[in-house]
Amino acid sequence: MRIFLFLLLFLHISFAETYITKNSYSELLYSNPRGVGCNKCHGEFGEGRVIAKYKHKEQNIELVAPRINNISKEKFVKALKNSKSVMPNYPLTPEEIDSLYHFLNSQK
Ligand code: HEC
Repeated sequence: MRIFLFLLLFLHISFAETYITKNSYSELLYSNPRGVGCNKCHGEFGEGRVIAKYKHKEQNIELVAPRINNISKEKFVKALKNSKSVMPNYPLTPEEIDSLYHFLNSQK
């Protein structure tokens, strides 16, 4: 009996790492990518969102975080490697970028 319990405990520990599925990992990373969550600007599923509205020289201007769940992998990777204006830069590994892309494209 004791051996059996020990074995159960051992199995539990050795499989603990695989408890988080690829889907939940990529979802977590999307809202917590070691920086401001992508969801804060691009929306919960990458659908895009207006992040600010302001007036400049009497004109109403909207600052938009574009939709990112319908773009090619190349465009996605490129945008993350050199973000242009408002978007922060992230120190993401290629695997993390893969996961984010996976999350955004598995939501349809
Ligand atoms: C502070 C708001 C903000 C955050 C946070 C943010 N982005 Fe962005 N993102 C933008 C804006 C604004 C653009 C439009 C280009 C620019 O201004 O940099 C953009 C552009 C992009 C593009 C290029 C889209 C295209 O069609 O060219 C991708 C891909 C992207 N973001 C992915 C992400 C991912 C993934 C994260 C999280 C790791 C993230 N962004 C976090 C605001 C944000």
